[in-house]
Amino acid sequence: MAQDSFQLNEKAAKQYEKNSVVAVFGPLAEITLDRIPLFDDDVILDAACGTGIVARKAREKIGPKPRIIGVDLNKGMIETAQSLSDPYSRSCEWHTADITKIPFNDATFSVAICQQGLQFFPDKKAALLELQRVLKPEGRLVFTVWDSANVLFKALAVSLGKHIGHGAVQQILAPFSYNDGAAISDLVSDAGYCDVSVKTLSVDRTLAASKSTIHNQIMANPAGAAVAEKGDEVMALIVDEVFSSLSDCRHGANFIIPQSTHLVQAKTL
Ligand SMILES: C[S@@+](CC[C@H](N)C(=O)[O-])C[C@H]1O[C@@H](n2cnc3c(N)ncnc32)[C@H](O)[C@@H]1O
Repeated sequence: MAQDSFQLNEKAAKQYEKNSVVAVFGPLAEITLDRIPLFDDDVILDAACGTGIVARKAREKIGPKPRIIGVDLNKGMIETAQSLSDPYSRSCEWHTADITKIPFNDATFSVAICQQGLQFFPDKKAALLELQRVLKPEGRLVFTVWDSANVLFKALAVSLGKHIGHGAVQQILAPFSYNDGAAISDLVSDAGYCDVSVKTLSVDRTLAASKSTIHNQIMANPAGAAVAEKGDEVMALIVDEVFSSLSDCRHGANFIIPQSTHLVQAKTL
C-alpha cells in the first residue's frame, strides 16, 4: 500500500478539530511549546498544520507580534483552520501546499514546528531539505512523531482487521508506522541539520467514555470513510468492541489513554 498521507474531506476535518484536537493534539501542542522558547521577532511555520492547533497555541503563548503561518496539503484541514472564529486562528496565515513545495522564499522562517506530520510524508528527506530551505541560518526545527501505538488504536486495528480489511488496519496504524528514534535522528543529521536531539514526551488522550466518542474518533480518521461505507451495523460492532476493550482506561466519565512521542529538535547551520 502507498504511504498513507492522512487526507480527510472537509466534514472529517471538522470532526478532527472537534475530537482529535481536543483529545490529544491540543494538549500535545501545549506540552511541546512549553519546551520551545519563542520570541517577538520569530517567524513561525506550522508545517503539516492540519487545522492549525500548533499555530494557534503558539499565538496564544507568544502574543500578536510574530508572523505565524500554517501549511498543509489537505484543503479540508486548511479550510477548517480558516473557518475558526477564535482570534488566534484569525491572526495566523494559512496555505494549502505540499511540504516539499512550501510557497515561501529561502530563509523566511526562524522556527518550523511539525506536529505528527513527518510519518505521513512519502519522501521524508525531501521534506526536511525543503524545511531547511525556508529556515534561516541557525533556524530551529522541532517535530513530534509518535513512538508507538496506544491502546485505542491497537483496539481499532484489531476490530478493523475483523470487519473491514488489511487496508483499513494499515491506515489506522499509519500515525505510528515511522517510530525508530535513532533512524529519525540519522535522517535529520543526513539532511544537513546540526545539534539534533531526540527526547520522549508523554501526553494523555482524554475522551468522554461514550460510544459516540469512539464513533467520532473513527470518523475523524482517514479510515473512517471505509467504515462508513460498510454501513451502520458494522460501525456499531466496531464501536462496541473498541468501547469494551478500553475498560482498563476508564477514569470516571473519561477514557484516559497514555501516549508517548519522540520530540526531535535540530538547527540549520
Ligand atoms: C495527524 S495530522 C497532524 C496535523 C496537525 N499538525 C496537528 O497536530 O493537528 C497529519 C497532517 O499531515 C498532513 N500532511 C500529510 N502529508 C503532507 C504533505 N506531503 N505535505 C503537507 N502536509 C501533509 C495531513 O494533511 C494532515 O493534516
